[in-house]
Amino acid sequence: MPDVISFARGAPAPEALDGGLIARCATAALAADPAVILSYGTGGGYPPLREWLAAHHGTTADRVLITNGSLEGYVFLLETFLSPGDLIGLEAPTYDRALLQARRHGMEILAIPMEADGMDVDALAAACAAGRVPRLVYTIPNFHNPAGTTISLEKRRALVALAEQHGFWILEDDPYGRLRFEGEALPAIYGIGGPERVMFSSSFSKTLAPGLRVGYLIAPPDLIASLTTRANQTYISPAHLPEAAVLKVCEDGLLDPNIARVTELMRVRRDAMAAGLVHMPAGTRCTPPQGGFFMWLELPGDLSADALLPVAQDAGVIYVAGSSCFTEGHHNTLRLAYSGVSPAEITVGMERLGQVFARA
Ligand SMILES: Cc1ncc(COP(=O)(O)O)c(C=O)c1O
Repeated sequence: MPDVISFARGAPAPEALDGGLIARCATAALAADPAVILSYGTGGGYPPLREWLAAHHGTTADRVLITNGSLEGYVFLLETFLSPGDLIGLEAPTYDRALLQARRHGMEILAIPMEADGMDVDALAAACAAGRVPRLVYTIPNFHNPAGTTISLEKRRALVALAEQHGFWILEDDPYGRLRFEGEALPAIYGIGGPERVMFSSSFSKTLAPGLRVGYLIAPPDLIASLTTRANQTYISPAHLPEAAVLKVCEDGLLDPNIARVTELMRVRRDAMAAGLVHMPAGTRCTPPQGGFFMWLELPGDLSADALLPVAQDAGVIYVAGSSCFTEGHHNTLRLAYSGVSPAEITVGMERLGQVFARA
């Protein structure tokens, strides 16, 4: 059996991870502030990084919570801001772990269909008009996981207007936005709707290294205070050494060059995967993304990506079955991550996948 090529993991390729950069910045940070970094810290994260993030997003540190990866901030929100039985709006498809955690926390889920230019805001408006107003709508604005899409400016504005009309909150989760291959960046929903309507989360997992486990949430101060208490009760404080290393990267102006480097690595991978689409069956639908890590495929007819996953694995390639990103159905969809493998592996993996689908 050939070595399995994984299109399943939404992680950066080894070449994207600059160990030397992290080592230098961690060493410098430790030398400068050892007593704070090596002690128990504060539940809200390493204070100087909170300050830096606040300034970066034009806000104040009492609105910033740093967590061990951004997913943890989302989970704290489910546990603190929402209650079991609350209606949460999730894009369909959405990030599989966001869906999993919402289910695990007993949320009622309002599935909002996705279109090529982001969520179907009209469908959300219709649900609200019919009395199904979510407490929170979770959206991934740029280079969506898994759909690869970016929500248009028009829809960003419409979503905010709808939130204002019906009084729901938006959580904009944007770990991929800075990894843009082409086109112009759009204004953040957080900037359009403001901090009393929109919460924002992001992460250094995709721009620096996921092993650092540094993500953050921006929300109103009273909510951040209760989430900080929750964090403190759960793990006392998040790990301050990686946060201090991240701060050093940012303060020394090294984040932007790293993002440029990672973006180029991802762009060539996107191109290799887009070229490999020729091997997919006629009628396969896919819009190659303009940034980020993922390509989303809809197979024609009754081809089931769920059923074919074990067959693909035997043929030496794996992916994420798209059905795991929906509340139900959509067995003909799949997510291919080009982020974690080399362009050469992508070429071979797409050929293998093409053969699996052709045989089916
Ligand atoms: C949309 C989205 N949000 C959050 C995360 C989790 O990131 P972190 O590593 O910061 O927990 C991911 C990781 O794949 C993601 O795709």
